[in-house]
Amino acid sequence: MKHGVAPVPASGEGAESSTLAATAELGLPEFRAIAAIMMEDARIHLVESKIVLVHSRLSRRLRDHGLTRFSDYVALVRRDATERAAMVVALTTNHTHFFREDHHFDHLRRHVLPQLQASARARKPVRIWSAGCSSGEEVYSIAMCLAGDGTASASWLRQGDVKLLATDISPPVVESVAKGVYSASTVQPIPAAYRDRWLRPQGSDFVVADELRELVTARVLNLFDRWPMRQQYDVIFCRNVMIYFDDKAKAELEARFVEMLAPGGHLYIGHSERLIGPAAAAMESVGQTIYVKAGGGSR
Ligand SMILES: C[S@@+](CC[C@H](N)C(=O)[O-])C[C@H]1O[C@@H](n2cnc3c(N)ncnc32)[C@H](O)[C@@H]1O
Repeated sequence: MKHGVAPVPASGEGAESSTLAATAELGLPEFRAIAAIMMEDARIHLVESKIVLVHSRLSRRLRDHGLTRFSDYVALVRRDATERAAMVVALTTNHTHFFREDHHFDHLRRHVLPQLQASARARKPVRIWSAGCSSGEEVYSIAMCLAGDGTASASWLRQGDVKLLATDISPPVVESVAKGVYSASTVQPIPAAYRDRWLRPQGSDFVVADELRELVTARVLNLFDRWPMRQQYDVIFCRNVMIYFDDKAKAELEARFVEMLAPGGHLYIGHSERLIGPAAAAMESVGQTIYVKAGGGSR
């Protein structure tokens, strides 16, 4: 952007701010201060071409605090931990949908589900993690694949020790996972047999059936903080999350995923992502953006 100054959105998309905040210009020094905080707190790498987006997403926060200058907002964020966390939430991108990149769910059903069922039959715990879960469409797509489309196909879930963990840095989206309520348009991509079996109408929306919601634990977790989980995971989905990180952060996080996976465990990443650093050497590719950790016998 020329001179590094964001244009002030006057109307239409991006003009989500009030007139008050829309008059605030975001200069490069303030943008860089905000980007440094995002890097420090969430390891999110904001490039300068995102200046208009940052302006648009933060204008509302300036308005809520009665501020007209981004320099004052930066000062506020530096002294107020609550506002700092709210800024991080405002600058995360939560776009997601049910059965996104559906080849991952085909793979899960065909190749991983039989192994998970065998583990459960052998009374071993089955653990699955949606890391960077957003509002839960990913974890409930996984749950529907595990449950199939009937009571009989889902019986192994009730009989075994099967748990799905869904985590995200953003508290509002984690709350949505726990609620499991989605609009009619949001549930459209779900295959009809799953929709009929696992969703119940609730007003004009749909709610995920208790049997599936009970499998899922939703928690706020910054992926760069300490992970409280003690057990290893059979499956980790971390898709369309690492695109926001720089290579150093990606390599660090992927190495931690490898450690967190049980031998023979699977890692699913987003279509534009790849493994780098030690994780690339430790994992074997078994499909498009699907990897397995060595040591799982026939897996
Ligand atoms: C684009 S969504 C992806 C959702 C889902 N995995 C999918 O592929 O549809 C990215 C999510 O990553 C989360 N995120 C970004 N940085 C994070 C971090 N440092 N720790 C945990 N979650 C993070 C965001 O809050 C957002 O909900």
